[in-house]
Formats: sequence, C-alpha cells, structure tokens
Amino acid sequence: MVILGAGPAGLVLANLLQARGIDSVVLERGSRSHIQSRARAGFLAANTVRILDRYGLSGGLHRGGQPHSVCEFRTDEGRFRLDYSELGRGERHTVYPQQALVTDLLAHYLAAGGRIHFETEVVAVHDANGHRPWVSVRAPDGRVTRWQARYIAGCDGRHGAARRSLPDGSVRRYQRDHRVTWLGLLAEAPPSMDAVGYAVHPRGFAGHMARSADITRYYLQVPRGTPAEAWSQERIWDELELRMQAKEYGPLRRGPIVQRGTVAFESDVLEPLRHGALFLAGDAAGLVSPAAAKGANLAVLAAELLAQALIDDLTNGDSSGLEAYSARCLTRIWAAQEFSRWMVDLLHGPSGTDSGSLFHNRTRLARMAELRASRSHQDWFAERYVGI
Ligand code: APR
Repeated sequence: MVILGAGPAGLVLANLLQARGIDSVVLERGSRSHIQSRARAGFLAANTVRILDRYGLSGGLHRGGQPHSVCEFRTDEGRFRLDYSELGRGERHTVYPQQALVTDLLAHYLAAGGRIHFETEVVAVHDANGHRPWVSVRAPDGRVTRWQARYIAGCDGRHGAARRSLPDGSVRRYQRDHRVTWLGLLAEAPPSMDAVGYAVHPRGFAGHMARSADITRYYLQVPRGTPAEAWSQERIWDELELRMQAKEYGPLRRGPIVQRGTVAFESDVLEPLRHGALFLAGDAAGLVSPAAAKGANLAVLAAELLAQALIDDLTNGDSSGLEAYSARCLTRIWAAQEFSRWMVDLLHGPSGTDSGSLFHNRTRLARMAELRASRSHQDWFAERYVGI
C-alpha cells in the first residue's frame, strides 16, 4: 500500500493499516519539521475524537487539547452566544492544533514500525486501472524512482499528484468559488474571549479562535487578491478591534503576529473517489471552505472509512467496503459542504451593491435573527456545526 501525503488523512490511514500489519509506506513531499509546524485547523469534532480514541491515537489531544463549546456572534444588532454542548446532540469540539495532531500521529506510526519518506515528492500515479499500479517519485537527491503497490491512497491534498493523475474524462469536479477571502493570522497572544468569535460587520467578517493559552488564531475578510503582507500588524489589530466591536465588548489581547496567509474560499468535490487501485481521501477528495472547520474532520473520517475497507479487502478478501467507499465518503463530504456553504452565507455580507447582493444580505440577516431567537434553529446549527 502506498500512501501519498502525511497530513491528517494520510497519517490516520497509515496508523490504522500499520496496526493491522498491512505493509504500507507514506511518501511525503515536505520535511518532518515542515509538517509538524504548519499551523492549520484546530477544531476536532466529537466524532473525530471518538475515531482517534478507538485506535489509541488520542493520548496527546486528551492531554493538550481544550474542550470547547461556545460561539459568540457579534453583529450590528448586538451579540449572542450559543453553547452547543447544551444544544442539538450536546457535543463539543476539542481544540487541538493540527500540527500537534500530525506530530502525535507521526510519532505513533513510527513507534509502531511504520515507514515514511520525507522530502519525497510523488510525481504521478500510473496505471491505476491496470494490474500493476505504481507511482513515480522524486527522491531528495532528485532521482526519480518508482513504488509499486496493490493500492494507492491519494491523501496528498488539493495540489497533489493523485488529483493530477486522474485520467481525463474519468472524474467529475464540482466546484464553487464563494467569492470570499480570509486573511488567516496566528498571534502570539492569549485568547481575547472564552468563545469562538464570529463578527459580522459592514466592513467584513472578523473571527477569533483560541488555539492554546498563549496562541490565538484570528481571521479578517479582505478583498480578493490582497497580499498576505499588505497590512501592518497595527492595521490588522485595529481592524480586528473595529469589526469585533472591542469598544463595546472589550479590547483584544494583542501580540506579535507570527504567521499569516490568505485563504480564498473555494470548494470542490471530485466524483468518484475511486479510480481502479487509486482512492482519494481528505483534501484530495474534496476541498471544503474553512468556514465551519470541517476539513481535518472529514479527512479523519475518510481515512477511517478507507482503512476499514482496505483491511476487509486485504485480510478477509471482502471488497464490498472498497466498492462502497466512494459513495459512503461522498455522502459525508456533501453534507459538510452544505453546512459550510450555509456558514459562508451567514458570515459574509454583500459582495457588491447590485440588487442580488443586497437581497442576499437581507436573507443573511434573517438567518442570523432566527439563529439568535429560535431554539429549533439553534439545535439544527449545533448538530451540524460540531457533527460530521
Ligand atoms: N507528493 C507527496 N506529498 C505531497 C504531494 C506530492 N506530490 N503533494 C502534497 N503532498 C503532501 C503535503 O505536503 C501535505 O503534507 O500531502 C500532505 C497533504 O496534507 P493536508 O494538506 O493536511 O491534507 P489532508 O490530510 O487531506 O487534510 C486536510 O486538514 O488542515 C485541514 O482544513 C485542512 O481540509 C484540510 C485537512
């Protein structure tokens, strides 16, 4: 088994296969320190934690993660809080930085005897529909070699080799540009509030998400095309305070911004997720906008589904799970896409002054008002926000 990519999808899959003695190797383009330090998502859904518990992969997140269950919306109409552990199915998130999870998954995999090659870029997947599928690989010294495998898991993200290698005409790509861009910021500063903060302001969205006692993630909606470095730290903090209405609700705890990057909200889903011996999982299968923090959770879910299907096939000769993998995974991906799109619409104002944009803005305000006032809307929200 060859696994492309050592993100959450690839490493959960690798751990589950390793635990069942299935011979696999992970090929990762980045270095070990790169994947262990790249700040990305951090909100683990309850079901993700259950999956990691089931396979003994959750020690670190139970030690270092923080339970989290409150979000606060700030709008022109004031603010309101939802404690989703008391709504819907009563589930919480566990806040645990993705790079810490990746570090744990990697350590566990290596301790169990797992094989991984860093700084090893997969160039392409070949002959996925044939009898001897293989991948071509550029090793750190530049040499191109090949790995042959019975099955190949494309867990190498949106720009990975798995996607690039799909034969023309074999895949349908559903795609949406949400026309929203966030500047994602990592601040060396304690959280400013004890909730996820979603500020919906006429100047654009601003978000606050705690990561740890002294690291906080902030987001600012910016015009598409704005370079990540365009705004000074002072301007960023001033803008965050303005949109989060710090004058009314209290100042933000400022600190140096140590990482920043822009995220253009685009979503896509590939169908199907199986092409002969090649299976797609995680971002390679579908890219979900970050508005509802579903990406890493979907990646873990897909990895478990795929691992179970591979184990059934390789140890019991039962291929029904592999045959069903694409459809089962897509059901979850589309549900996450639907909710993420709902969140994108809730959190972002008109993209223009045309009548369509202004109409959308009014329906968005109505959606926010319902969320504020109606228990059944809150239950619906809670179930989807933390569920996967
Ligand atoms: N060859 C080998 N490795 C590759 C290649 C390649 N050609 N291309 C990409 N990779 C590696 C990347 O360096 C990265 O480490 O594949 C890995 C993919 O990991 P992620 O991008 O984290 O993707 P995934 O495991 O699907 O998890 C996705 O996590 O942070 C969340 O929201 C994010 O939705 C995303 C989710």
